[in-house]
Amino acid sequence: MITYNKRTHIFRLETEHTTYAFRALRGKRAEHLYYGKKCGRILPMPQLPLNYGFSPNDADTDFLHSHDFTFAEYPGYGAGDFRSPAVRILGKSGTGVTDFRFVGHRIYDGRPVLEGLPFPRGTTDCQTLEICLKDSLNGCKAFLSYTVYPAFDIITRSVTLENAGRSAITVEQPASLSFELPGRDYEQITLAGSYHTDRFNLERHPLGQGTHRMISRRGASGHQLNPFFALVSPETEEKTGDVYAFNFVYSGGFTNTVEITPHGATRVQIAADDENFAWLLEKGEKLTLPEAVMLYTNRGLGEMRHQMHAFIDTCILPPLPEGTAPLVLNTWEGTWFSIDEEKLLHYADAAKGTGIDTLVMDDGWFGARIGDDAGLGDWFVNRNKFPEGLAHTVRCVKERGLKFGIWIEPEMVNPDSDLYRAHPEYALTVPGKEPALSRKQLVLDMGNTAVIDYLKKSLSETFAGCDIAYFKWDFNRHICDAYSHVLPAKRQRETKFRFMRGTYALLDWLRKTWPNAILETCSGGGGRYDLGMMVYGHQIWTSDNTNPGDRIRIQSASLLAYPARTMSCHVANGENVCEGNPRTMRFRYAVAAAGALGYEFNLALCSDEVVKTVKAQVAEYKTYAHLMQSGRYDEYLSPFTSPLYAYAYLSDDRREILLTALADKADTGRYTVYPDADERLSYRDTLSGKVYNGKELRRGLTLCPDGKDEWSMMLHLMAV
Ligand code: DGJ
Repeated sequence: MITYNKRTHIFRLETEHTTYAFRALRGKRAEHLYYGKKCGRILPMPQLPLNYGFSPNDADTDFLHSHDFTFAEYPGYGAGDFRSPAVRILGKSGTGVTDFRFVGHRIYDGRPVLEGLPFPRGTTDCQTLEICLKDSLNGCKAFLSYTVYPAFDIITRSVTLENAGRSAITVEQPASLSFELPGRDYEQITLAGSYHTDRFNLERHPLGQGTHRMISRRGASGHQLNPFFALVSPETEEKTGDVYAFNFVYSGGFTNTVEITPHGATRVQIAADDENFAWLLEKGEKLTLPEAVMLYTNRGLGEMRHQMHAFIDTCILPPLPEGTAPLVLNTWEGTWFSIDEEKLLHYADAAKGTGIDTLVMDDGWFGARIGDDAGLGDWFVNRNKFPEGLAHTVRCVKERGLKFGIWIEPEMVNPDSDLYRAHPEYALTVPGKEPALSRKQLVLDMGNTAVIDYLKKSLSETFAGCDIAYFKWDFNRHICDAYSHVLPAKRQRETKFRFMRGTYALLDWLRKTWPNAILETCSGGGGRYDLGMMVYGHQIWTSDNTNPGDRIRIQSASLLAYPARTMSCHVANGENVCEGNPRTMRFRYAVAAAGALGYEFNLALCSDEVVKTVKAQVAEYKTYAHLMQSGRYDEYLSPFTSPLYAYAYLSDDRREILLTALADKADTGRYTVYPDADERLSYRDTLSGKVYNGKELRRGLTLCPDGKDEWSMMLHLMAV
């Protein structure tokens, strides 16, 4: 899988269908050679036949050898390569000039542990190459790790920088991944948004010469741009074409760079945080950066999805304690902040017998939290709302046959809170500047261990004696005024990275303290829909936008990069979410059944008819929920290009298929989809009883929306 050829100095990293190669000679710069379809012999890059004037060359070479147009594995700054650097180091010279040369390598079975950061689990067949580079000018070593996951066609990369010199250095925006692809005719696919209810709009566009940066400066991955991106050939479609896909196991800000270079190549880089990120390394100190994930396939977007989903499912997401996702009733959209014990128990009474298994008490249960202007940080139960304490309420919910879940937002504080009054220095605020509020709250300095200790203590005390089956961990603003009151000025640019490491430490503690509880992460919905959060949380509240028409697109885009079981999808109140255009319960359900199903309205105020419908839907969902959790997702019609969205979840042996088609606007088109059924089998649709022949399904199934404002169709096909 990973080999080193002593004669040619070429490292080859191989997955089942791909090869990644670079050449590294002691004392020279590591030179990237190839990434793509598995191939035989790899040759060093030929010398360019042209004299690219103005491209500097080292004294011992001629103008045909320039660091400015060779493919680099970890390019420095200001030493002859004018393209985007992987890192810039400020050392004794004060110049920022950085130039890494190869020192040595090791290859081992398994994968490294990234101290303080989330990372994918290893598999029995994964292997790692670590190369050591040294920048002698600044005395900095870079350890580049490449872990190969053969079955998923995935290679992950991380970097540790070490100050191996005598004086302090500052590393500026170090990349976790950097390499080059030949050619420049790629289109870029990104998942973009504008605010918390508008996210995951799929964009695809060609790139011209120059440096294209996708940045989150928010201290969070954000709704505005997801860390996932792909570079594809212009002709790439669902089943054919080249795809290079990238992602980042990190939840803070990020900078994804794609540079179309002057010499017709494409440089790709992934780095944590933004251009302000810098880290001071005293003599002997190390800094480990988050892990980046990359995948190549020449079998189109569909294969990219299958491999990414399988990798995330196997190596990133925690296994579900009971094997299946909880079926949740959440109080937020039905009750907002005005939750109390009486109302909660009405919810529990109404849910009893519907098949819903977990009642989640959302925001509003703690401190002085009667609106969004107070209480965050005060993690003790509000006795006016829960006079007999939280443990009593939890017991009452359990007596009604339901598990209990609870909402928290540990990283935040309201200025109007006991915590802030006692410890204003716990919040990120710049001395001498009025802090900017967002949702009337400030962000805690999670890099300060006193803050983490406070949170551990108050959460443990509050939940002592409570049987908590589910946490919803929210994060409702982004980070500005990133000043830590416990760091010296020379370390302030580390604050946002330290914040993320503190958050991860608390997430890790929560998971270890309540090992059997489900963790749903959330950030005004999917504002931290990333692989970092997925290492800790079983699922993510997909979006605060519960309008099924919008959700169709949000969910299809989420599924481009992340498996279905990450999507927490609730049937919401039709009136609430679809102003003037309430959708039927069936349509809202058919949309939500794509992920981990839940309900988000006050069931206690609903008619018997609605409660009966919920019960029937839950029973139906349970017959095929396992397909959503572990089946393969195939997309037939994209809601971004077609009025009808059509997809299926298929079991590995293709004996079971859940096929769904959804149109959120009146449409009378005729569409043909080609399910990957087994042609030797016949299938019975458990919902209608109708029998379908596998061969005929493969030849095409025609779908005809009926011209009404909404249309949905679900087939649950079981081999007979
Ligand atoms: C934002 C989340 O997305 C909502 O579901 C809800 O939990 C609110 N926060 C509560 O404040």
